[in-house]
Amino acid sequence: MGIKIVGSGLYVPTSKLSNKQLESIVETTDEWISTRTGIANRHIVSSENTVDLAYESAKRAIEHGNVDPSEIGLIIVATFTPEQLTPSTACLVQSRLRLNHQQMIAFDINAACTGFVYALSIAEQFLKAKTVKKALVIGSEVLSKIMDWEDRSTCVLFGDGAGAAVVEYDDSIEHSFYLNSSGDEQGALKTTKLSVNNPLHQEEIEPIHFYMNGQQVFKFAVTAIKETLTTLLTQNNLSLDDINLVIPHQANKRIIDKVVKDLKASSEQFFLNVSDYGNTSAASIPIALNDAITKQQIKNGDQIMLIGFGGGLTWGGCIVSI
Ligand code: ACO
Repeated sequence: MGIKIVGSGLYVPTSKLSNKQLESIVETTDEWISTRTGIANRHIVSSENTVDLAYESAKRAIEHGNVDPSEIGLIIVATFTPEQLTPSTACLVQSRLRLNHQQMIAFDINAACTGFVYALSIAEQFLKAKTVKKALVIGSEVLSKIMDWEDRSTCVLFGDGAGAAVVEYDDSIEHSFYLNSSGDEQGALKTTKLSVNNPLHQEEIEPIHFYMNGQQVFKFAVTAIKETLTTLLTQNNLSLDDINLVIPHQANKRIIDKVVKDLKASSEQFFLNVSDYGNTSAASIPIALNDAITKQQIKNGDQIMLIGFGGGLTWGGCIVSI
């Protein structure tokens, strides 16, 4: 019993920001960014927002899967950069897709860069219980709005974009999820807090910015990927060779290189496109999934492993079929 991806789409804003352009924004070099992260380009919004990106990727996923929209009963958007706190991104996407039939469920979740995997696991519960026939699961982020564009240690790493998948439940597939979290009050990955601003108490209002302890996150990421991968293989009684492609969250090429080396695996088994998009948080896995399909690195009938890790701290993965 497990999740089958029946349609996949990605959408990124047209504006590209190259490493060379970043050289004139912060004290950095193309060489530093490429060698430390594997990133060459990222896309950033001009006027588009999280809903626009999510909607475009969803439309493409529905078209790609030739899906009858009336069969979609659930929309989950994973994001930690919504355009507004309410209505949810998912409800606004529902409205744009005109999916206003009876018994629609739509909501957002925040599990940072693990958001897409967490969202898929929630969708699986609704599908397994036959509450809905098909689910639309989206990761959409506009991280450029929360970057501190004077902080070279973070602003070079991230990009904006969205990826979507239409999923259904296939009784003939035996797959499972592995999800985990470890509350991190110190905040190896965190944003600024909202300020108190009420009639009795006021704090200085700070812009919302993203902060990260890069080296701590690097070590966490390597451990999280290895733990998720080995647990999923054991749970499902599979070896890595049974998996057609591993699609990890795209944060940094060096993280994946280290995992490949530690596991004595082949780099061909791990999909990488961080070079073109940077780290798009919850959008990175569905963007990579669509990219892998377009580049024909995976085909119908394949089983693939998705692995996320990020703020929270959260991590986990799943095996799905396409
Ligand atoms: N350009 C030039 N120099 C820089 C830059 C930059 N953009 N950023 C940092 N430096 C400098 C630092 O100031 C430091 O200088 P110093 O030695 O004079 O103090 C030097 O480079 C080395 O800095 P480190 O932080 O030690 O560099 P490191 O090799 O660890 O690489 C990096 C930094 C790329 C951030 C790495 O730690 C990393 O990839 N961590 C994981 C990040 C990640 O994956 N985050 C996302 C996961 S979760 C999520 O997606 C939300």
